[in-house]
Amino acid sequence: MEPMGELRRTHDCYSITEESLESEVTLMGWVHRRRDHGGLIFVDLRDREGITQVVFAPEVNAKAHEKAHSLRSEYVIAVRGKVRRRPEGMENPKIKTGMVEVACEDLRILNTSKTPPFPLDEEKEVSENVRLKYRYIDLRRPVMLENLKLRHNVCQAMRRYLSGEGFFEIETPMLTRSTPEGARDYLVPSRVNPGKFYALPQSPQLYKQILMISGMEKYFQIVRCFRDEDLRADRQPEFTQLDMEMSFVKEEDVIKLIEGLMGHIFKETLGLQVKTPFKRLTYHEAMERFGTDRPDMRFGLELMDITDIAAGCGLKVFNTVAATGGVVKAINAKGMADLSRKDLDVLTEFAQSLGAKGLAWVKIKEDSSWQSPIAKFFSADEQKAIMERLLAEPGDILFFGADQKSTVFKVLGELRLELARKRGLIDENEFNFVWITQFPLLEFDEDEGRFKALHHPFTAPMPEDLDRLETDPASVRSRAYDLVLNGIEIGGGSIRIHQEKIQKKVFKALNIPDEEAEEKFGFLLEALTYGAPPHGGIAFGLDRLVMLMAGRSTIRDVIAFPKTQKAQCLMARAPAEVSMAQLAELYLKPDWKRAQ
Ligand code: AMO
Ligand code: AMP
Repeated sequence: MEPMGELRRTHDCYSITEESLESEVTLMGWVHRRRDHGGLIFVDLRDREGITQVVFAPEVNAKAHEKAHSLRSEYVIAVRGKVRRRPEGMENPKIKTGMVEVACEDLRILNTSKTPPFPLDEEKEVSENVRLKYRYIDLRRPVMLENLKLRHNVCQAMRRYLSGEGFFEIETPMLTRSTPEGARDYLVPSRVNPGKFYALPQSPQLYKQILMISGMEKYFQIVRCFRDEDLRADRQPEFTQLDMEMSFVKEEDVIKLIEGLMGHIFKETLGLQVKTPFKRLTYHEAMERFGTDRPDMRFGLELMDITDIAAGCGLKVFNTVAATGGVVKAINAKGMADLSRKDLDVLTEFAQSLGAKGLAWVKIKEDSSWQSPIAKFFSADEQKAIMERLLAEPGDILFFGADQKSTVFKVLGELRLELARKRGLIDENEFNFVWITQFPLLEFDEDEGRFKALHHPFTAPMPEDLDRLETDPASVRSRAYDLVLNGIEIGGGSIRIHQEKIQKKVFKALNIPDEEAEEKFGFLLEALTYGAPPHGGIAFGLDRLVMLMAGRSTIRDVIAFPKTQKAQCLMARAPAEVSMAQLAELYLKPDWKRAQ
């Protein structure tokens, strides 16, 4: 191993082009690939920006050529040499530096490397656990570098846009008390307050509202949030939000600002023009038409209600459901009548795994007649009425769901996605935004037997629904909005309650006793009595947004050091055991297993 000595980088491995011909350059980076060609040795030298070919020839510098024999993948080297045109037939038009190479005059091996656990120069499937354990090597792969670069660019675009709109970037505490966002808290014991715990924030919700009461007017923060919940591809125990709040605003103002922000981000980072204003659906519409409050609107296959027609038909499962408060809905899968019996069996199993009792289907034949096990239960008029409502034509196949509303929404909503994936109906290059508005304020939690806030308890009810808060809580709509991109919820927010009286009323509807409200949120209730302005805001899942922009299918690919499904960091090996002494210092009792 050798020191860098007097050598300093003059260029990066992306900027060596024909403009640099004949100049002397110094590059530093990693050996991406080495090839021995008789007398000549070729090294693809890689740094953060790209790859440049370096040639070691005995006649240029015999010592460097000799040393180059010992180079292996991922050795760290410094190379000084002259830029020259590659010989004819040796050019690589696929890369920007592909017309030139550097003839090495001085080579220093700055560090060696063990053989990496997986090759970096091929797009080979590597087990994610190995990638996460050796994350520093995984992140050297150009695709991962690109993801983190995009993330950086997105953050910079956010900061620039929001600063330009008069927002202050303000930090809020990490050691705080529980803010309810519906997940479990991560707790931190306090050494100086025995028996007391901080909670890591699930979001800065209460602090940002307090900042509005403090007169900051426009706040944002790119902030880490912590939620101890079951993990999925688009969920991490710690994740990053772009969190925002504004005073003196209504829904329209927040929506307009965010559309401007998204337009700016996509233009600055991907060079894409997104179409604004975004589409909008009320929660009710989204559920009825797509079976979900985060619809992927890059394709059709909408749900249609046929409960009224099914009520009179001869199929018992349908007419019973219709008579007992359930719904019958259908999807017209256009042109998909060629699905085989086996395909239909697989789809039926898929529906059953989601809680359906079955999945009735009808193929529309050339003469518009029905081919289906359930055809005989429908009169000619009923068949005609269904065909008309679903705009059914020969070659189509109709799928039916009959059950309680929530089951039908879930089953047909997922079936819709499955059919679109199966038949390639999704344009992977499209960015399709939709706002979902007018969410219910509360939802009934069957397990706990009480109403819970659908968004969070600080969301304002729609004023025209407020008088039903006691009598018919389920019917009260809120002033919440979500932004959905390609079927993924990337952001959510609301206009908040800024009057103590109404906040207390909502706590009551949530069955939170006065003492508990006082104990947990007393500071907010009190702050609301000291001149709280009307305010509202929103928070974006930065990881999810960047994942979609980078065309990846998991947020782990756009987070430098993510956790596994078991919430572990395989590289640093967290979480880890701690010593008895550390526990004692925090007044925590060691658990019985370790005490043995
Ligand atoms: P919400 O809980 O909807 O709202 O969170 C906002 C956005 O954060 C992202 N998100 C996550 N991303 C990765 N992993 C997770 N575990 C995770 N959980 C949420 C989602 C989501 O849309 N305080 C409110 C916002 C407000 O009212 O202003 C809040 O946190 O993309
Ligand atoms: P059955 O009368 O149970 O033989 O069902 C007739 C057809 O209707 C079969 O194709 C079932 O898969 C389907 N089916 C049964 N229950 C339901 C339901 N709740 N919703 C939709 N289709 C169903």
